[in-house]
Amino acid sequence: MDEDRSPSPELNPVSVSEDLTPLPNLKRAGKADIDFDGLLDQPLKIHEDVRSGCGGQTWPAGLVLGKHLLRYHKHGLQGAKILELGAGGGLVGLAVARGCVGSTLLLTDQDEMLQLMRHNIRLNEVGSTVGALVLNWYVPIGMGPSTILSGEPLPDDVVQQRPDVVLAGECVYFEPAFPLLMKTLHDLFELNEDAVVYFCFKKRRRADMQFVKMAKKAFVVEEPLDEDRPIFSRQSLFLFCFKSKRAGGTSKHSARPTGINGEGEGKNGS
Ligand SMILES: C[S@@+](CC[C@H](N)C(=O)[O-])C[C@H]1O[C@@H](n2cnc3c(N)ncnc32)[C@H](O)[C@@H]1O
Repeated sequence: MDEDRSPSPELNPVSVSEDLTPLPNLKRAGKADIDFDGLLDQPLKIHEDVRSGCGGQTWPAGLVLGKHLLRYHKHGLQGAKILELGAGGGLVGLAVARGCVGSTLLLTDQDEMLQLMRHNIRLNEVGSTVGALVLNWYVPIGMGPSTILSGEPLPDDVVQQRPDVVLAGECVYFEPAFPLLMKTLHDLFELNEDAVVYFCFKKRRRADMQFVKMAKKAFVVEEPLDEDRPIFSRQSLFLFCFKSKRAGGTSKHSARPTGINGEGEGKNGS
């Protein structure tokens, strides 16, 4: 499914600003049909356009996360209020909107991605259950080596939504942003200590594991069962689920995939 895709973003300390310009190693604008290895009856239509940033194309971690959710949480997310961080073109969230029954969803990213998220919502005709808005994990203040990063409070729409499920695919690639992404996750657990975060990223350098260290200190971190784990692990892809320590690691929208032990949902969420 993803063999024609570029590898994940380069780990250049200036990658966030580069994300705002066309990157030669990324794909051109175009439309991809993605059915997550047959888990969606009708493929998602994803318009890709990297002119607004690296989120303008789909990435391996988003594909793994989307497939995991479709396969193991098709019915388990019923009634869930879902928020996607760093949604890019919306691959993961839109897969959930199309394949998981009865959830409502907010796709979020930086301002540059807003039009693409909205475009893909329209393409897939899921506007009645999915919205898009800007949620910055941080704002750069100043320029050059003296740049500092400052966190932003959660937008009002997110505070009102009080998400119980948070999705993040391929959001670990810029080390200075790790504390700010952590702060955003903290704020989301403050809002709802029963929330569960599904988090998938591709490790490209050792520093990426610092994020996992930080997460393990702050949250209950689990590795949900997934029959593809041996395959994606070999590609340095990590799939985790975070829960609040205060909630004792429990959540209504359990991270434990059903179906593995023959109970709950079937392998294909049936
Ligand atoms: C590699 S892309 C992943 C896109 C998508 N989740 C996927 O898996 O295909 C990372 C995304 O994180 C977003 N991002 C990076 N820094 C951010 C920040 N400080 N606040 C909000 N989003 C950010 C980028 O705009 C980009 O869309």
